[in-house]
Amino acid sequence: MTTSTNGTFDRRPLIAGNWKMNLDHVQGITFLQKLAWTLDDAGHDHSRVEVSVFPPFTDLRGVQTLVKGDDLEVVFGGQDLSPKDSGAYTGDISGQFLNRLGCTYVLVGHSERRTIHSETDEVLNEKVHAAYRHNLVPVLCVGEGLEVRQAGGHVEHTLEQLRRGVAGLESARAADLVVAYEPVWAIGTGEVAGPGDAQEMCAAIRAELGTIFDTETAAKVRLLYGGSVKAASAASILRERDVDGVLVGGASLDVAEFASIVRFEQHLVTD
Ligand code: PGA
Repeated sequence: MTTSTNGTFDRRPLIAGNWKMNLDHVQGITFLQKLAWTLDDAGHDHSRVEVSVFPPFTDLRGVQTLVKGDDLEVVFGGQDLSPKDSGAYTGDISGQFLNRLGCTYVLVGHSERRTIHSETDEVLNEKVHAAYRHNLVPVLCVGEGLEVRQAGGHVEHTLEQLRRGVAGLESARAADLVVAYEPVWAIGTGEVAGPGDAQEMCAAIRAELGTIFDTETAAKVRLLYGGSVKAASAASILRERDVDGVLVGGASLDVAEFASIVRFEQHLVTD
């Protein structure tokens, strides 16, 4: 993350909370209200650092009503979407429905979808296209497992997921894409990749985006790091040049902890 001469960030940082299968529709509303109050009390400037939550599908209507009714500046997204727009796809959720519910973002290819639901790069590429068809910004998740990391193949593995995930996208669309680098071995394990590891991969992803699209487009794409991020580790990761935000799982379920991650600039000054 770098700042321009007037002190604003070149790319607006995105702090994203992935609730996974936690917080039902009642708990979700209570949680979001508390989060909004906490950020308000702290004087958080949403125009400086964007906050998004990714609740379960069944929470989205309530979240939308709260965000609209109370004029919250928090945005939200779905945790997945169907590659199809409508039809006989039992259990699937169309990007069109997410768009109608006011979603800004949608996660695509979270490692839990890739492993538990065997989602392939080809299907994920269709989902990326489906997201754009419905005016949703895809947050494409990529990252290697432990064996690949130990064998030293993590950069190539991750870039291959990236290339396949964005295949067929036009540069004009790709500029607002978000890519989340989440090493699978760091998700929910307490193991955090060091700031240097996050930067190494994010720099490689940005360079690859420059090759796939062009350097101007690559410079606009926001790159997130995810994997056991906590308030204590967020600032040092976000200080890295090519890291423009974080995707937070476990710590996004604790209001104070998540709010502290959103307010990472405070820690930049003191640590
Ligand atoms: P974690 O999850 O922060 O609990 O490791 C991150 C994620 O899966 O997006």
